[in-house]
Amino acid sequence: MKPLIAANWKMHKLPSEVTAWASDFEAALADTDRSRFDLAICAPFTHLSALAAALDGTGVAVGAQDVSSHAEGAYTGEVSAAMLKDLGVRYVIVGHSERRAYHHEDDALVRGKLERVLESGMTPILCVGETLQEREGGRAREVTLGQLRGALEGVALGNAGGLVVAYEPVWAIGTGKTATDADAQEMCGAIRAALKELLPELGGAVRILYGGSMKGDNAAGLLAQPDIQGGLVGSASLDARSLAQIAAAC
Ligand code: G3P
Repeated sequence: MKPLIAANWKMHKLPSEVTAWASDFEAALADTDRSRFDLAICAPFTHLSALAAALDGTGVAVGAQDVSSHAEGAYTGEVSAAMLKDLGVRYVIVGHSERRAYHHEDDALVRGKLERVLESGMTPILCVGETLQEREGGRAREVTLGQLRGALEGVALGNAGGLVVAYEPVWAIGTGKTATDADAQEMCGAIRAALKELLPELGGAVRILYGGSMKGDNAAGLLAQPDIQGGLVGSASLDARSLAQIAAAC
């Protein structure tokens, strides 16, 4: 399976900074064999038009970080899947732990968002993962797989490329603490087994990413794990060279 390196810029950068970042990224990848991996940049809504223009022709996909669970209507401030698709967006992050924690998103809402993304023909990047407290309480698997089932049970998927799952242990996000290769593999292996149950035909071929303080110097070990097919990269993706370094580790 070809790995996917997806950047999650979160609420960083300005729309006017996107073009320069994209040309730095192209320069940083100049000596890398790009056929080894897929790339996506998930940016704030306000940046997407500029990003789509800047990445045009590069093969790097545009991604969004959220979407409405409603298809259309009187929902002030919301952005629909169809609007994103119309801008050329290919991937949409759903269920990021920061949205679950700060915006009280539960499994039902995450599932609604995931369904809207699938209906619009884009690929959801479904984020799952446990907090430190849940891990220390021995509940890492239960919580993570519960989030996975909550979003996917009964969902019809057209093809394996239509879904990406990101395992992001909350305690590793933005903390500089990365899961060990073995811990990350253990959880991604459990996710793989659950995906095969939930999606009998396709679950074996869905890409599973690791996210949580992935950097140039720890990416190779994580990406070498059998059930990890890429990374969802936060802080390190803000710098074009650091992101290129991670991609080169594929
Ligand atoms: O979605 C990416 C993420 O939450 C990881 O962030 O800053 O730890 O790489 P970071």
